[in-house]
Amino acid sequence: MTVKTTLAIRTARADADIVPTQSHRIRMLDGKFNGKLQKLMKAETTPAPQKTLAALADKYSRVRRQTGALCAPLKTEDYVIQSMEDVSPTKWHLAHTTWFFETFVLAKYDISYEPRNPDYAYLFNSYYVQAGERFSRPHRGLLSRPGVEEVFAYREYVDEHMFRFLNSPVALEHPDVLHVLEIGLNHEQQHQELLITDVKHVLSVNPLHPAYCAGTSVPVSEPLDMDWVAVPEGIARIGHDGPGFSYDNEGPAHRVFLEGYEMATRPVTNAEYLAFVDDEAYHNPVLWLSEGWATVEREGWMHPLYWKRTDHGWQEFTMGGLKNMDMHAPATHLSYFEADAFVRWAGWRLPTEFEWEHVSEDRTLNGHFSDERLFHPQISSKYAPAGSFHNLFGSAWEWTGSHYSPYPGYRAAPGALGEYNGKFMYNQFVLRGGSVATPSDHIRATYRNFFPGYARWQFSAIRPAR
Ligand SMILES: [Fe+2]
Repeated sequence: MTVKTTLAIRTARADADIVPTQSHRIRMLDGKFNGKLQKLMKAETTPAPQKTLAALADKYSRVRRQTGALCAPLKTEDYVIQSMEDVSPTKWHLAHTTWFFETFVLAKYDISYEPRNPDYAYLFNSYYVQAGERFSRPHRGLLSRPGVEEVFAYREYVDEHMFRFLNSPVALEHPDVLHVLEIGLNHEQQHQELLITDVKHVLSVNPLHPAYCAGTSVPVSEPLDMDWVAVPEGIARIGHDGPGFSYDNEGPAHRVFLEGYEMATRPVTNAEYLAFVDDEAYHNPVLWLSEGWATVEREGWMHPLYWKRTDHGWQEFTMGGLKNMDMHAPATHLSYFEADAFVRWAGWRLPTEFEWEHVSEDRTLNGHFSDERLFHPQISSKYAPAGSFHNLFGSAWEWTGSHYSPYPGYRAAPGALGEYNGKFMYNQFVLRGGSVATPSDHIRATYRNFFPGYARWQFSAIRPAR
């Protein structure tokens, strides 16, 4: 391996600096949480659980505000549309993340809490069978009520009660509150990413090609060569172990033997993927997995999701609207099926998730994340010297060839929160590294994202191995 950098997990992040054009929708909670809880964080004599609670309360304020800030460029009509089954309306994301805190924190630990509307539990539960009946997922776009204003009022109502609860002694009487709170915050950050990718899909189906934000600039990628880094065979330590939050699917940590392999220093570019398209790959069943080919035929796929062949050449739908394609940018919004067919065509393969984690484990987590508010992947040398890996973290998730399966010894937690990850370990593949829609403090070398083979509306790309 050519370069090893020291691990320096980023904990500080730039706060949202989008001007709150719809200020009633961006609840500014700082003033409330910055009071006695921040004093607690600084006091050296404060017991550890109190400090942790204060830090999480501070993060609660920040994460909730950032979700609101992501909505600032939207028109009211944008909040309601469900453009395909996998997409949820923005309004639903806003309410569902709120329901999560209401259900798993307030309803469970605050005996004085009264729900704003008991029917919201039915509308905004996603898949937690043990939390009760749920509204049909493919029909979330039919929910004209509650309206957008009421959904924001629901968020404010729950925020007020969360603030009161986190400032009360009751919050420290239950040791598991801190863990549940941390899951809730990470859950909301996951939905921030989904909110962005769902909005992109919603806007993309409009023939007017509206921009998410008229001022959104699309970054230009650097023309970097694809080099290969050789990794010798050996035993790799895989999975999360030690301090800091992780999801249950990242453990238990364990050892895996890896044969020697090579990993590409950057993801596949649009130019390289275009050669695959021009070689009639979308008409050649030999290159595809059986289910992948069935999907190509059924869906009429001819190229990646947001590509468009126009009189001006190839263009790509971005969060800044329809733009001329940057041939040096990473080919993105690819399904596992497309990634798999591409590397087969090129004579390469996808790395396993263990190979990916092994080259990433000691590297800084710098990259192009949602904090930059660019929402378009790029290949750049900003965070890595020449000859090293570019864009391992951020920019676009990278498909691995690994099925999403439990690690040896994995057990889902009891109760409804145990449904968070474990029950999806079937028919999905693992992606690593985060994207331009991922908050920078929501990624780790051990982080396992997962989607079914046909899914391609996430910022998902290819880093080959051989
Ligand atoms: Fe969720």
